[in-house]
Amino acid sequence: MSKIDWTNLSFSYIKTDYNVRSYFKDGQWSDLEESTSEQLSMHMAATCLHYGQQAFEGLKAFKGKDGKVRIFRMDENAKRMQHSADGILMQPVPAELFKKAVMRVVELNMDYVPPYESGATLYIRPLLIGSGPKVGVSPAEEYTFVVFVTPVGAYFKEGFKPTKQMISRKFDRAAPQGTGNLKVGGNYAASMRAGKVAHEGGYSSVLYLDSREKKYIDEAGPANFFAIKGNTYVTPLSNSILPSITNMSLIQLAKDMGLNVERRKVEMAELSEFDEVGACGTAAVISPIGQIDDIDENVSYKFGDPSEAGPICTKLYHKLRGIQYGDEPDKYGWVTIV
Ligand code: PLP
Ligand code: COI
Repeated sequence: MSKIDWTNLSFSYIKTDYNVRSYFKDGQWSDLEESTSEQLSMHMAATCLHYGQQAFEGLKAFKGKDGKVRIFRMDENAKRMQHSADGILMQPVPAELFKKAVMRVVELNMDYVPPYESGATLYIRPLLIGSGPKVGVSPAEEYTFVVFVTPVGAYFKEGFKPTKQMISRKFDRAAPQGTGNLKVGGNYAASMRAGKVAHEGGYSSVLYLDSREKKYIDEAGPANFFAIKGNTYVTPLSNSILPSITNMSLIQLAKDMGLNVERRKVEMAELSEFDEVGACGTAAVISPIGQIDDIDENVSYKFGDPSEAGPICTKLYHKLRGIQYGDEPDKYGWVTIV
């Protein structure tokens, strides 16, 4: 293993020693295999290659001050991957197999879990693909489940500093009755062109409006949206956003802090009423948003100090990180020690 500069990691792929795999064939999942190869070999007519039959997950392992490695809410990722599989007619991965694979791949790559002080984490990427051949549009009969890991730093280079996000009605991420609530690759392919426009304009991400009316806030490209309005945590309720496990956790932590929580449609017009806004997700953690530009209408919305996260975002961030790293009690049983 070459020396890794833990404090300067970005969110990118670094090779580790092992990944784990299981194959669904003839109606059953194989025993978990450990592999040192970074390659997958598959049929050229595999449905993942032609018709986008694929789903993935993202979760993290954290090394605590006590040296223990904790995985955050993997039961929820297991459930969500089943939901994604079901949505595009793939064979769901049994929750027990999912959890066993996640635990095993972390155990096998313990040397790659970044040290506590670095602030970096081990990102765990489960992937499910239709690997059996079809030429007509129909679900595969064979599936491959792989889990790999890679040490990562912050997803947005600003880390826990406010970023600017962009709204434009010229792009949709997901159709109203489409696959936006599934973690399937097609949603990310659909977001790449808009993402490029955002990055070229100096924005960390696109903030999507609902595709039907262009009236309500949906979510950011790689993360959910939330806002603080007085003593209330507000987050969009929409059928075309990914149900974020980080957001679900922040909702609980906000309640514990005595905030009201509203999960409801959030009109874009309400942006001018928010005190703090942010994006949240496994990769993004909490990424405070300092400014949102509606580039079609040439209107800017600004939130708090452009160089510092707001007080409630900061409190939520420390509480969440505290639980993940084992500095705070895990009163809801969110953490699994490897
Ligand atoms: N929304 C999208 C589109 C995402 O890709 C992610 C990342 O997984 C999230 C939201 C955040 O979800 P989670 O908090 O479960 O990582
Ligand atoms: C995550 O937060 O785990 C994601 O999957 C977001 C992004 C890397 C696609």
